[in-house]
Amino acid sequence: ESGLSTERFGRHLTVLAKTDSTQTEAEKRAREGAPEGTLVVAEEQMSGRGRQGRVWHSPPGRGVWMSAVLRPEGPLTAVPQLTLLAAVAVCRAIRTVSGVEAGIKWPNDLLADGRKLCGILLEAVIEDGRVRHCIMGIGIDANLEESDYPEELRDKVTSLRRESGAEVDRSALIAAVMNEFEALYALYAESGFDPIRSLWESLSVTLGREISVRDARGERRGIAHSLGTQGELMMQTENGAVVPVYSGDIELYPG
Ligand code: BTN
Repeated sequence: ESGLSTERFGRHLTVLAKTDSTQTEAEKRAREGAPEGTLVVAEEQMSGRGRQGRVWHSPPGRGVWMSAVLRPEGPLTAVPQLTLLAAVAVCRAIRTVSGVEAGIKWPNDLLADGRKLCGILLEAVIEDGRVRHCIMGIGIDANLEESDYPEELRDKVTSLRRESGAEVDRSALIAAVMNEFEALYALYAESGFDPIRSLWESLSVTLGREISVRDARGERRGIAHSLGTQGELMMQTENGAVVPVYSGDIELYPG
């Protein structure tokens, strides 16, 4: 047994040898009425998707590429909060299963030693101004080796295997992510975003750091100050003002 102790998450499971994207597969199941917690896992993705229209490199056999169906009750504004919740869940699972001290880069990248080892993509399907369902995609470079990556990525990424020196049990990792997610999702439904925000802050490698933000308004520099009530990043700019950043990508400067 892999240690799955959930009621719903990961209980309806499809494992595919190869697919275009588990996001597409899970979305198809969600449209057909699949229950919350339905999970699609693939050994390999031919067109893995990342945030901001990027490609997610998903070679066969050594990663964890998976997508879960969410049916959140709350308003549209809850979607960014769920993104942060997902990062907390995966970060905790990674620490437990592999011992790697992963940290969160806003909004939801997981890093070890400043290199990315996991990305999360939350896609919401909106209908009549309401969330119909969400697809939570998680890509963890569990046992990837340097030779699995294209040349240009090699100094930006890492894997649990490279960080810990040991092969990670991918089924145990998937089960741990589902266990953590279900527990935090219940906490969120019961107590709102505040406890999730505290957990996110304690796992963050972003707060207090010098950053630059690239979004629709161009590029701005400042210090990552705190997480706002909606999950936005509060950034202190050069003139001392603290301004919210709702979306986009940030770069962390060394230090
Ligand atoms: C990012 O950091 O840009 C997010 C990457 C998300 C990758 C995962 S892998 C499983 C799921 N299927 C996809 O096509 N993407 C997500």
